[in-house]
Amino acid sequence: MTKTRMVFNCQKCGYQSPKWLGRCPDCGEWGSLVEEQEVLPRREGERDWVFEETTPKTVDQIEPDKEERIKTRISEFDRVLGGGVVRGSVILVGGDPGIGKSTLLLQVLNQLGSDKFKVLYISGEESVSQTKVRAERINVSSPHLYILTENNLERIIKIIRELKPKVVVIDSIQTIYSLDLQSAPGSISQVRDASGKIIFLSKATGFSTFLIGHVTKEGAIAGPRVLEHMVDTVLYFEGDRGHPYRILRAVKNRFGSTNEIGVFEMKDDGLDEVLSPSELFLAERPLDEPGSVVVPSLEGSRPILIEVQALVSPTSFGMPRRMAMGVDSNRLTLLVAVLERKQGIKLYNQDIYLNVAGGLKISEPAVDLGIIGAVASSLLYKPVVAETVMFGEVGLAGEIRGISQSETRVKESEKLGFKRCILPRNNEKRFQGDTKLKLLGVSTIEEVLKLLF
Ligand code: TYD
Ligand code: MG
Repeated sequence: MTKTRMVFNCQKCGYQSPKWLGRCPDCGEWGSLVEEQEVLPRREGERDWVFEETTPKTVDQIEPDKEERIKTRISEFDRVLGGGVVRGSVILVGGDPGIGKSTLLLQVLNQLGSDKFKVLYISGEESVSQTKVRAERINVSSPHLYILTENNLERIIKIIRELKPKVVVIDSIQTIYSLDLQSAPGSISQVRDASGKIIFLSKATGFSTFLIGHVTKEGAIAGPRVLEHMVDTVLYFEGDRGHPYRILRAVKNRFGSTNEIGVFEMKDDGLDEVLSPSELFLAERPLDEPGSVVVPSLEGSRPILIEVQALVSPTSFGMPRRMAMGVDSNRLTLLVAVLERKQGIKLYNQDIYLNVAGGLKISEPAVDLGIIGAVASSLLYKPVVAETVMFGEVGLAGEIRGISQSETRVKESEKLGFKRCILPRNNEKRFQGDTKLKLLGVSTIEEVLKLLF
């Protein structure tokens, strides 16, 4: 007989406490502790989930596992996963509601189905006919794709065992509940229990699973942050609902790099891969407008040209505003301070708004020079020559520091018809190969401003 025990789970971060508390000591959320039945990872009668007994081996005795991967042939998707779906892996896909998670995974399954893999899409949110309507809209019709509407975990496990699919999608993990527990679907213990059982089953029988998870306002996968530790891969599907572009990003990946991104465009008939994102992100760039600069940035192994826009306008009263979208706002504050101190440019009475066009988010330091260029251009009200790209890290002394893979960045800029590239002098000196681009090496902000205006 297994004994059931009650615990208090924080619904935000998964913290457990034997008694009720008004405030979670771990994440600081008020009133988030709810009494739930404790989930024990293994229970009696479930012996087949227990892996074989293990003995330690010396490292040279171990035969490396050959990772079996299934290619979805949606190249943007495969690349983010590190070259296809690994057999037996569990992948959590998070994203805001309405961003296109269900659409993306239905398309992925359809692609796999047309390669004759048996695949199963389990929806806990939409009925079979609702899913069919969506499927028709995006031309999904593979005879190997099974659709199921089910919320009950025990029945889902039974069906998976009988059907033996290669890939399963659960949309979404927050709607699945087990009858063993009394708490409501979506609560921490239900989510943890359902995911745990599905992960065990996946590993034991070798099918791959995609778990779709809702995201909270703060941007974490709702409630079950614990889930991120349990799965092999965590993908985020991001984008701005006002824009058609969507970016698939790996934030954790046991089978590949976490730098890679996949770019998609939401159309009337589903998501389309964007194979040359630079063209897309530069399509609406205003030419000869002050405050706009193009930066060849690198996402994983792929260069993407982005447009950094700045608007500098006098502060009407009080503190000047600094607002950055798509780049870290601390970075903007820092670069503004460097401009003020090293160049004597007055910005203390100016509001500064910075934006990366297309809703992209850039976190690499190569964008620094672009920010400096855009802010200066807007302040002086002089446009940067349209055929110019620039990249480089800016240090606190106003020096321009070299960054990695300048060749890749220059090559992409050349491909898109740019003529001049302002880059760190260090990168210019060590540049390998040849290019039609005019390379202008710089080592201080002063030189950059002289070149630009
Ligand atoms: P959906 O996949 O349901 O999002 P999620 O599962 O992440 O909540 O996508 C819903 C949105 O996408 C909805 O606002 C309509 C839009 N959409 C299209 O623009 N084209 C399409 O072909 C489909 C299926 C949806
Ligand atoms: Mg959905």
